[in-house]
Amino acid sequence: MRSSQQLVDIVDLTDLDRFVDGFPYGVFARLRREAPVWWHPPTEHTPGGEGFWVVTRYDDVVVAGNDGTTFSSDGTSVREGGGTLIEDLPAGLAPGTMLNMTDAPRHPKFRKLFHGNVAPRILRGIEDDLRERSSRIVDAALAKGECDFLIDVAAELPLQAVSQLLGVPQEDRHQLFAWATATLDYSDRDLGQASEVSQRAAAEMYAYGAELLERKRLEPGDDLLSVAATATIDGEPLAPMEQQMMFSLMVAAGSETTRNAIAGGILAFVERPDLWADLAGDPELLGPAIEEMLRWSSPTPYNRRTATRDTELGGVTIRSGEKVTLWWASANRDEAMFAEPDSFDIRRTPNPHVAFGRGPHFCLGAGLARMEMRVLFEALLARVGSFEVTGPVDRVRSNKHTGIRHLPMRLEAR
Ligand code: HEM
Repeated sequence: MRSSQQLVDIVDLTDLDRFVDGFPYGVFARLRREAPVWWHPPTEHTPGGEGFWVVTRYDDVVVAGNDGTTFSSDGTSVREGGGTLIEDLPAGLAPGTMLNMTDAPRHPKFRKLFHGNVAPRILRGIEDDLRERSSRIVDAALAKGECDFLIDVAAELPLQAVSQLLGVPQEDRHQLFAWATATLDYSDRDLGQASEVSQRAAAEMYAYGAELLERKRLEPGDDLLSVAATATIDGEPLAPMEQQMMFSLMVAAGSETTRNAIAGGILAFVERPDLWADLAGDPELLGPAIEEMLRWSSPTPYNRRTATRDTELGGVTIRSGEKVTLWWASANRDEAMFAEPDSFDIRRTPNPHVAFGRGPHFCLGAGLARMEMRVLFEALLARVGSFEVTGPVDRVRSNKHTGIRHLPMRLEAR
C-alpha cells in the first residue's frame, strides 16, 4: 500500500482543476484498491490546512452514511465548524440550521415537516403539469435545431418544478438559476473561498428568500416555503435561519443536481445511440435506465461527515472531530457491488446505487427527481430520433457537483 503522501501527489481531491475534465473515476478506482479509507493530507489547496478521510468503497460508504450518530452532518458538537462540505462552515450558519446539516434529535422532526410535501400523493398532483412542461421544453429545443441542451432542456424542467414546489413565481426562476449557479460555481475561486460574485449572489438570494418567506407567513399557500414559514417543531416555529436555509437548500438541491443527471444521462446516450433506440422501442426499460443514469452521473459526488467519537471504518481508526468524506460517486463504480461498473447498462437490475445518499439524510427530493427524469425522457424519446454534440462540453470546476454548464447539441426530430 502506498503512503498518504505518495498518493496525494497523484490524487489531490481539493485541487479543483482535476475535476474540469469530468469526475476522475480512475483515481477513485485506485483508491478503492489501494487505500479504501484514505487519509488525505492537506495540500496547498486544502481548506483550513487540515487533512480529511476519503471513504471510497460501497460497503464503507453505506455503513458511515447509515450511522448519523457517529458520522455527524452538523459536526459542531465536536469542533468549531462543520457541515457536509470539505471546508468547515461556521456553526449556526448552515451546520445546525440547514436541514441536511442537522443531526438527531432535531433532524427527523425537521425532515418530517417536508417529507409529506414531496410524497407520492403531492408528486402525482404535479406530474401532469410537469409532463406538459416537458413537451413544451423539448418542442422548443427541437424548433431551434441547435440548442444548449443544458440550458434549454436539462436545467429548465427542474427549475420550473422546484419553483412550483417552493411557491416561487415562475418569472423569477431564471434569477434563481443565476444566483444558484454563482454560489455553487468555483470557476473564480478555490475551496473555502468566496468571490465577489458568489458573495453578491448569496446576499441577493438571501434577501429574496427573506421577502418571499415573509409573504408566505402572511398568506400561506400549498407549497414548501409556506411550510417553512408556518410549521412548528415542539410548538415553536422554525428559527428564521432554518427557514432561510431551507429556501437556499431547496433551490440548490432542486435545480443543480437533477439537471446534471439529465445532462449526464443524455451524454451517455450520445456514446451509445443503440441504447437510445432500444429505449425508444421498449418503455419498460425507462425505469432501469433512469436508475442507471443516476448511478452513471452521480450528480452529488460526495458529502462530508464529522466523526463524533473514535471509531473504526474499513479497518482504519478515525478520531473524534476528524472530517470524513463519503464518496457516493466512487461507491457507484465499486466493482465489488456492480458488475462492469464502468459500462453504461440501461438493463442493470438490481441497481442499488447511492446517488441519492444513504441513511437518515437520504435525498428528500428523490421521488421528484425521478419523476422529472421520467417525464422529460418520455418527451425526448417520443420526439427526438437522434442527436449529436456540436461543441465543447463545459464542465463545472468543482468536486461537489459533477456539473455541466453548457452542452451544445443538435436534436433531430423522429
Ligand atoms: C438527481 C437529483 C438529485 C440528486 C443526485 C440528489 C442527491 C442528494 C444526496 C446525495 C443527498 C444526501 C446528502 C447527505 O447525505 O449529506 C441529498 C439530500 C437532500 N436532497 Fe437531493 N438530490 C437530487 C434532487 C433533489 C431535489 C429535486 C430536491 C428538492 C426538491 C432535493 C432535496 C434534498 C434535500 C432537502 C436533502 C436533505 C435531506 C436531509 O438531510 O434529510 N434533492 N440529495
